[in-house]
Amino acid sequence: MPLNDHDLHNGGAGFPSSSGKSFNGYFDHPSGLSFRKNDLLDARARRMFETTAMACAADAYPFQIPLEGRTGPQVRADGHSMLMLSSYDYLGLIGDPRIDKAATEAIAKYGTGTGGARLLTGTTDQHVQMERDLAAFKGAEAAITFSSGYLANVAILGALFGPADRVIMDSLCHRSLTDACRFAGVQLQRFRHNDPDSLKLEIEGGSPGNRTLIITDGVFSMDGDICRLPEILELKKAYGCFLLVDDSHASGVLGANGRGTDEHFGIPTDEVDIWTGSLAKSIPSTGGFAAVSQELAIFLQHGASPFIFSAALSPASVAAIREGLAILKREPERVAKIARNAEFLRSGLRELGYDVGLSETAVIPVILKDEATTGLFARRLRDHGILAAPVLFPAVPQDSARLRLCVTAAHSHTDLEYVLEVFAKMAPQRSFAVGQPVHRSTNGSHGVRAHG
Ligand SMILES: Cc1ncc(COP(=O)(O)O)c(C=O)c1O
Repeated sequence: MPLNDHDLHNGGAGFPSSSGKSFNGYFDHPSGLSFRKNDLLDARARRMFETTAMACAADAYPFQIPLEGRTGPQVRADGHSMLMLSSYDYLGLIGDPRIDKAATEAIAKYGTGTGGARLLTGTTDQHVQMERDLAAFKGAEAAITFSSGYLANVAILGALFGPADRVIMDSLCHRSLTDACRFAGVQLQRFRHNDPDSLKLEIEGGSPGNRTLIITDGVFSMDGDICRLPEILELKKAYGCFLLVDDSHASGVLGANGRGTDEHFGIPTDEVDIWTGSLAKSIPSTGGFAAVSQELAIFLQHGASPFIFSAALSPASVAAIREGLAILKREPERVAKIARNAEFLRSGLRELGYDVGLSETAVIPVILKDEATTGLFARRLRDHGILAAPVLFPAVPQDSARLRLCVTAAHSHTDLEYVLEVFAKMAPQRSFAVGQPVHRSTNGSHGVRAHG
């Protein structure tokens, strides 16, 4: 799927917006986007300005598309109803009336903010109960929450590890874990993605450090594959290491009850020293958690900067987390539906000749390799009423740009059939030629989608 500069500059003509107007993200005057001399910006910024201006000129700037209402399988954007195909709302709970009611009641009772950080005046009885709920969900002794999953990782590394320690991390772990290691100043080694032999070599090589912490994602956020937890645990035990698993994309998705990677493999939760995760994916709120031993939780409450020096989760967020966990417990069939939907879409895309990489979960990458092609592909999907996020370097390695599709329990079979129909039109064997408009579907209600 080659793409050249001509295609890009010509893109505005080839890719009319579904609403008939150009979409330029936050840029009111894209033609005026230029790199003025500014001592705060360096060569990286110049490149960013150039590629952003090119994307805007092609009416294909793919990021920050403002949603005009709540997200779910259908969203409103650019004046149209579209099929959302890149939301982390795996359980399909955003907009569930029970969640909305819980959040609204929490605002009525507690207000919109707590007015403080957790250690001082920011803890309500609901925060305490939420952490008990999370510990019970994960089957851990205790849980502690932070204002995001990113900060949960930063908090743990900063509070428990330092320059005398070393971390050995899977090379495809989430950026928050890399940043957490950098902020904590630990010695960082990486092992080849999902390769226990490489992990073993790294443990045996390098300087041993005071303590060694192995880090992996449970489900990898850009590839949708599952970590090899049993083999990692064997190495952890054999070499006396500690283990942190970030289960952000596994919580609510893996295991019969959605408890995560441990449930998937039938491994006792406490074999992993530290579980972290986001509360803004399957659990439809904001926040992040760590599930740990009781001693660790108490230590973190008094030693983790993001707990002490940053505002507590808002009461509405807390209520949404609690209700989300309660619904997950009552309705495990949602977890099974995610797996069924993912399998249907993944196998359909494979049959069409798309490279879906290593995906085995709700995250399904469509690897197109070239960045501009990926951006334009996403743009053309929007013409068909499908919102799918392109993921580019540095979020993924160079030359592996992709659309990152996420299925949820709220997608219907018809939704996914429509997606396959559109991807069939743009399939590689039909020599997807960038620059030519795709014929819009005339199939019933799924043309340029006009849901809701
Ligand atoms: C594996 C992983 N960890 C942590 C995070 C950060 O979570 P949050 O968005 O709650 O900060 C993400 C976000 O996508 C993630 O994919």
